[in-house]
Order: sequence, then structure tokens, then C-alpha cells
Amino acid sequence: MNIPESWLERVRGHDASGWLGAFCRDRKAAVSELLWNRFYHGPLNVLGRGHVLAGWLEAVGDEHGFAGMLDEACSEWVRLNWGRFDEDGVRQGSAWMCAASLVEFSARLGPGSRLGRTAGELRARFAGRETFLGSFSTSPTADPLGVYLAAVAEFQGADRSMAAMWHRMCDLPDGVPPYHARYAMLGLRRLPAADPVEAGTLRAEVVRGPVRLAMGFDRLVRERGMPEALAQATFGPVISQVGALQGSAACRGVDATWHGPWVGWAIGWRQRGRGGGTVGAVATLMRRGGLTVVEHPLLGRSLTCLRDRGTPVPEFRRNLLQCGRLLAFEATRGLGTRRRTVETPMARAAGVELARRVILVAVLRAGWSLLDPFLELVPDALVGFVGQRRDETTLRPETYLFKVPRDATAEVFVLDPMLATGGSAVSTVTLLRSHGLRRVRFCCLLAAPEGVEALQGAHPGVPIIAGALDARLNAQGFIVPGLGDAGDRCFGT
Ligand code: PRP
Repeated sequence: MNIPESWLERVRGHDASGWLGAFCRDRKAAVSELLWNRFYHGPLNVLGRGHVLAGWLEAVGDEHGFAGMLDEACSEWVRLNWGRFDEDGVRQGSAWMCAASLVEFSARLGPGSRLGRTAGELRARFAGRETFLGSFSTSPTADPLGVYLAAVAEFQGADRSMAAMWHRMCDLPDGVPPYHARYAMLGLRRLPAADPVEAGTLRAEVVRGPVRLAMGFDRLVRERGMPEALAQATFGPVISQVGALQGSAACRGVDATWHGPWVGWAIGWRQRGRGGGTVGAVATLMRRGGLTVVEHPLLGRSLTCLRDRGTPVPEFRRNLLQCGRLLAFEATRGLGTRRRTVETPMARAAGVELARRVILVAVLRAGWSLLDPFLELVPDALVGFVGQRRDETTLRPETYLFKVPRDATAEVFVLDPMLATGGSAVSTVTLLRSHGLRRVRFCCLLAAPEGVEALQGAHPGVPIIAGALDARLNAQGFIVPGLGDAGDRCFGT
């Protein structure tokens, strides 16, 4: 085709007429020449390429189908050239650099970019290639992949398939440079809400990002010798950026997989939002640490069945068992061990055994339902029972039974599916402590912020392991959204 007059009009001052002419003669060749040679071997750096390309695209727009044709040619170029090697690897590098510039100028046009197909091709090639994170991103100053990740974040559109990858990036595993934290958070922030009701709110999956990042940096400091000041200098700006954008949003609940001072720091900004209410309460309890919310897809699925009011008793029991198993697995993670050597049929092998006796304390009635799954994992545990009845008018607990083994060195797990006002939990732990038990943990399926606050206020050293942290209590002291009365639903009363 001949070069349309209107294109030349539009790019006046861009010095693009030569290339547009080549584009009109042979689109694929012109794009290939542009991406392989003109820029990589030419005088423009990555940023310059991006600006020039963006300038042309913005100037010409879709006049006579320019954007569509460019998109088609670029996406084909990506398909043909992505990851291509030559002997010395230079071309592979250039492919990434060119891809980065493509993406950069696409990204500037936002989610509705006219280069949507190209972006799709790039994203498809990136998915499942996380190992590239390390090999192509070696320093903050030469980071085409960073630009690329930013573009992928922008281009997610309605697609939520990148959610898991952003979260994994937040863990800062080997190969993910720490400064990529900002792209991981950008990806999470730009992720479309799973439920439209949550759009525009501070969603748990976004808050989980800083929490996981906090864990990642904490690990790099502890295990990799990263200077703490560097960790803070990298982590801080990412978090304040998220805070600035989302600080006034409502909180829809938070879950975390780790607790400690870094988490407190991670979500401290959230209090600068509306403050008070759930946001304030959650921030407070997270700052104090000691709360672990177990994150596991199977637990999430079973909890959902428990929440469903239509779940019949047998199904409810089956899912309660399943939740209990996953809770037990996580809750026992910190058990102390000591060395034990055994003889295998082949040789001697170093191993471990539990360092201390385990006592499981079921808070009756509902806590009884968690005993079996915990005993499956720790069959040699001793078992105690504490009967607590909650007065539904005053919401205060009354103790009607206390039968617990006494072993001051034992590791104690208090089991109760629900932590609502915290009255039963506080009373139980107080009784256990005066019984001489020291190493006490509290395990529940659902916790309300109010209950966590109460238990941590009364017994700050007692870790809480929960399947989920719900939003609040209602006026009757029930957890919302919760699952109703666990005892009644489990025992069919
Ligand atoms: C439920 C639950 C806890 C308690 C939590 O028991 O199993 O023990 O309430 O509430 P709290 O945190 O406000 O104290 P419930 O009193 O219903 O007795 P049950 O186990 O016999 O059903």
C-alpha cells in the first residue's frame, strides 16, 4: 500500500516517514528490522525506543488501520522471535530489550491499548517462565524485565490468572531480585477483584502482598545476610506507595501466613486510612504479632462448605475434619525436635523426634470436633477437656468441666473452632496457666478481630493459629460472616 498522507501529517516532526514507508511496503519486515536492528544497534536506548514507538502510535492512532496492522505485525514478531538464541546469547538479550520497549510503549496506553494482541503474546510467553526472573534481571539499572512486568501488570485486564504469580513474587524466592517487589505489588494492585463487590476496596489478597513481602525480606535478612537497612529501604517505599493509593479504602479482611514485627510495619499504613473499626482492630492485632492465618486452597474450600448454611450435618463433619487436619499441620509446624539416629536396613540415618510431650485440650463441646484430626498427626498426645458454656445473654463463659493432664514442659494446643468475643479462650488459657502449663497455643477455624484482640491482650505470648480471620462480631456475639454455631451444626442440635 502507499503511505497515506494522513499518516505523514500525523507524524510530522517525528522523523518517521522513512520507516512508515517501509511499513507500508512490507509490514513484517519493517517491524522486524525496527525491533532487531534499528534500535538495538542504533543510538537509542531502551527508554528512547519506547518513547519513539509510543509517539508514533499515539500520533497515527488507528488512522487507516495503522494500530491494528502494527499490533498484528508486532504480535507475530513476538511469536517468531521470543527467546531466540544465537551463539553468544547477544540476540536473546536484544530480543528481551526489544520486547521491553514494545511493552513499554504499549503499557503507556493502558489496559485498552491498541497493542492488545502483542501484549497478549508477551504475557503468554511470560506465564510459566518465572525462572527468567533471575537470568534477565541482574541490576536495577538494566532491567527490561522490570518494564515488562510493569506492562504485564497493566495488561491483566479482566484476567486473574497472574494472581498466584504476583503472590509468589512477593515471597522473593531465589531469582527474584528484591527491587522487583514493586512490580509484584503493582501486579497485585492492578489485579481485578475476584468479586465485583470488592472493587475499589482494600482486598485481603492485596494486603497479603506486603505481608508476604515482609516475610521475604525478613528471610533475606536472616538467611542471606541482606543488611536490614537495605531491606527497609527497598520495602518501605513499596509499602508507602500502596498505602498512598489505598489508604482510604475500606478493609474487607486480612489474612497472613506469618507474624512478627515486619508484618506490623507492613500494614501499619493501613491505620492512616479511616482508622478505627475493623481496619484499626486488624492493624492492632497484626502489629502485636502472634496471629497466623493458615493459607491453603483445600482449607479455603472446606471452610467455604462449613460457612454454607445449606451444608448438611454429615458434610459439615467431613469438612470440619478436613479443616482440622490442615490446621493441625500448620499449628504443629513449630514443635521442638531433638536428634534421633536410627538404623535403616541399609545404614545409620540421622533423624528427629519431638522434644516435648504434646497435650491437646478440647474446649467442649465444639472443640471436640478438632481432636481427631490433631490426634491423627500426633497420636501419642495426651488429651484434656475444658467445658465452657457461653451465656448467650451476657456472652460470658461459664466453666463446667476442667480435666487436663499436668506437665509444665508440654506443648499445649487449645482446640476450639470459634474465637468470637474471646471469653471462652481467655478463661481456658487462664485456667491452663494456673494449672502450670506454659507452652500454650490456641487453634481455631474462625477468629473475629475482637476475639484475637481479647486473647492477645490477656495472654500476649499465646500464638493463635486460625483458618480465617473474619470481619467482625454481630450484636449477639456471632462471628460475621462466620458459619453460625459450630457446636450446633456439628452435633445437629
Ligand atoms: C462456642 C465456641 C466457643 C465459644 C466462642 O461455644 O465453640 O467455645 O462459643 O465464643 P467466645 O469467644 O465469645 O467465648 P458455645 O458456647 O456455643 O458452646 P458449644 O461449643 O457447646 O456449642
